[in-house]
Amino acid sequence: MPEVFLNPNFSPRPWGAPALARRGLLLAGSGLVLAGGRRAQAQDQRLPEAMRAMTGLGEVARARGISFGAAMLTQLLQRDPAYEAAFATEAAVIVPEWEGKFAALQPEEGRFDTAPLDAQLHWAQQRGRTLRGHALIWHESLPGWAERALAEGRDRALGVMAAHFDRVLNHARGQIRDWDVVNEPIATAGDRLRDTPWLRALGPDYIDIALRMARERDPTLRLVLNEYGFEEEVPEALLKRQQLLALLRGLLERKVPLDALGIQGHLHLSRPFNAASFAGFLAEVRALGLQVLVTELDIRETWDAPQEIAARDALVAERTYAFVSTALEGGARTVLSWGLSDRNSWLASTPAVAMGQGRVHRGLPLDDHGQRKPMWQALARAFRGGS
Ligand code: G3I
Repeated sequence: MPEVFLNPNFSPRPWGAPALARRGLLLAGSGLVLAGGRRAQAQDQRLPEAMRAMTGLGEVARARGISFGAAMLTQLLQRDPAYEAAFATEAAVIVPEWEGKFAALQPEEGRFDTAPLDAQLHWAQQRGRTLRGHALIWHESLPGWAERALAEGRDRALGVMAAHFDRVLNHARGQIRDWDVVNEPIATAGDRLRDTPWLRALGPDYIDIALRMARERDPTLRLVLNEYGFEEEVPEALLKRQQLLALLRGLLERKVPLDALGIQGHLHLSRPFNAASFAGFLAEVRALGLQVLVTELDIRETWDAPQEIAARDALVAERTYAFVSTALEGGARTVLSWGLSDRNSWLASTPAVAMGQGRVHRGLPLDDHGQRKPMWQALARAFRGGS
């Protein structure tokens, strides 16, 4: 499914309201892609004022037919004007960092809470942006009731998955056109699928089932399988690439509907990155007929990173440019970072990955004060094709 043109007059319907007739072009996928040149110029004039306020990375990327965006938290959107302003400036696409997950949407069986997701959809509508969905089936952020239900057996598990998909995909129909349907299905080590409540309840074909269920409920969706840990040149990542390719080939051989591989892009400066090797992997994925997109880019520094901020930022920018330019050359046309500012990154708030010693990973385009960093410039240069 090609990247799509966002109808500047697109008005995602409010949650729960009847589908409104949409004027003009249909939105048929995620992201905002306007060809360069006069057509873009013409389209620009048609963009709503709020869209024209996007003067940062989203605009730089858009000029080259690329969609840039970032993960958003509703609680920050609603309480931090600077946070909202950064997204208005930088992001053509948003992805809910929490609000689209199972535990957020259905905290108790049958009780759906779409308000936090609705808030992001409303923001995207007001600003003429798009929102991509994350994540329907995952082993994390699965509420206790669902874990217990999945342990009751196959039929119960199928019912839980179907009920969730029925409500969420119907609710978001026409508003979210791109979902991470299955997130992180491969084990971090060893040649197997990750041992999750879904695998235990339904067996390895839980992935097939989820993708088929999503396609049945909304044939216009771009269905994405989202994964991490295969981006860099270390043995476990190279093994994961082979596991991933085997999984993707199997799905496609079984005619399971799948449109794209989501490359999370949680990168580690402690690991080498080999552009040619990663490009070869991307070419193998594309040869399967799948799109690729970068879904959760951020950069983790080493614990012995330099003291000087400039030196740290240079290392982060260098890795950012190498990875993103390789992904773009490999066919990616959507790139999202996992947040915009270091201050709000999970890398700062999650003890297991935090930098420690009173320092915070400088792994996102904006610093603690929302100022653009060399990583921002590196992204812009990659979007501009290296210039
Ligand atoms: O639990 C509260 C919930 O009750 C409340 O309604 C909500 C309001 O926003 O906040 C919830 O707090 C935390 C939530 O983040 C929002 O900040 C959750 O406890 C916490 O578990 C959750 O962590 C997120 C984590 O995924 C698990 O969902 C992180 O922010 C998020 O950065 C992280 O992102 C994952 C991707 O989804 C998949 N790839 C890896 C990536 C990093 O782990």
